[in-house]
Amino acid sequence: YRDCLILPGFIDCHTHYPQLQVIGAFGEQLIDWLNRYAYVTEQAFGDPECAYEAARIFLRETLRAGTTTAAVYCTVHSASVDSFFEESERLNMRNIAGKLLMDRNAPEPLLDSPQRGYDESKALINKWHGRGRQLYAITPRFAATSSAEQMEMAGALWSEHPGTYLQSHIAENRDEMTWVKRLYPERADYLDVYGHYGLLGPRAIYGHGIHLTESELQRCHETGTGIAHCPTSNFFLGSGCFDLGNAKRSSRPVRVGLASDVGAGTSLSMLQTLNEAYKAAQLNGFPLNPAQAFYLATRGSAEALYLEERIGSIAPGMEADLLVL
Ligand code: GUN
Ligand code: ZN
Repeated sequence: YRDCLILPGFIDCHTHYPQLQVIGAFGEQLIDWLNRYAYVTEQAFGDPECAYEAARIFLRETLRAGTTTAAVYCTVHSASVDSFFEESERLNMRNIAGKLLMDRNAPEPLLDSPQRGYDESKALINKWHGRGRQLYAITPRFAATSSAEQMEMAGALWSEHPGTYLQSHIAENRDEMTWVKRLYPERADYLDVYGHYGLLGPRAIYGHGIHLTESELQRCHETGTGIAHCPTSNFFLGSGCFDLGNAKRSSRPVRVGLASDVGAGTSLSMLQTLNEAYKAAQLNGFPLNPAQAFYLATRGSAEALYLEERIGSIAPGMEADLLVL
């Protein structure tokens, strides 16, 4: 590979494989976008054939973009998780994925119940977590689509299965934040909704976090909770402009990884995602230099996922997921 660059494969620490087909869907901010596009397309994923075909295309395109590991949201259907891991295992990729937990505030065909969500997640963990290179993430979609009882069950699942991941969304959009405050009025802030149910700590990673306060960032730092920075999504949905420099403040650095958040995000490419991360940083008065950008898409994302001993850099003992540019 003379005249090429050999890099560690890129790591996308938050993306939705069922949403690839609604990428770039026009005209809405978060809640309307979910109702009009995401919740519509996700209803097809109870069909294993549809799910497998979508997973196959998604992982082919992910690899084509130079991404060798992703933390992936499936749908509420167990079949969507089986399909994803079958294809990921066939490709021998190190991926993280999980079944959505959602028991309210979404169309009926996308809802489970606290008990069903618990039972199905447990069966999927037993089947897939640690099988070859596959890793499982317990995945309450976000606080607005899970009841308090389901959040408790998510906390129980996570503590009963050490080494598994916990992924969700936080502080992405102002209307979403107002809604969550109304649903959980007794909690101090948005992060505390998750904290109350034991959903913060190493291997917990939250998408967006654009509007987190100083005390919430401090709590992310103290608990080792990660944030997935999704700039193409944040600009596409008009959600806001994540302040990376502030999140990484040296007195209380938060683990931040880079993420596509497809299909609200507009590209699977981590290079294209960095293009937008650069602009988000500029708008916050922080020039993201090339070394920092490269770090964010590789070792930074690995650290946000607590996988830096295995992937994200080229060194003896690491898994050789290499990318040639
Ligand atoms: N918040 C809850 N669900 C979603 C989703 O599917 N995409 C985005 N961008 N935000 C969410
Ligand atoms: Zn997302």
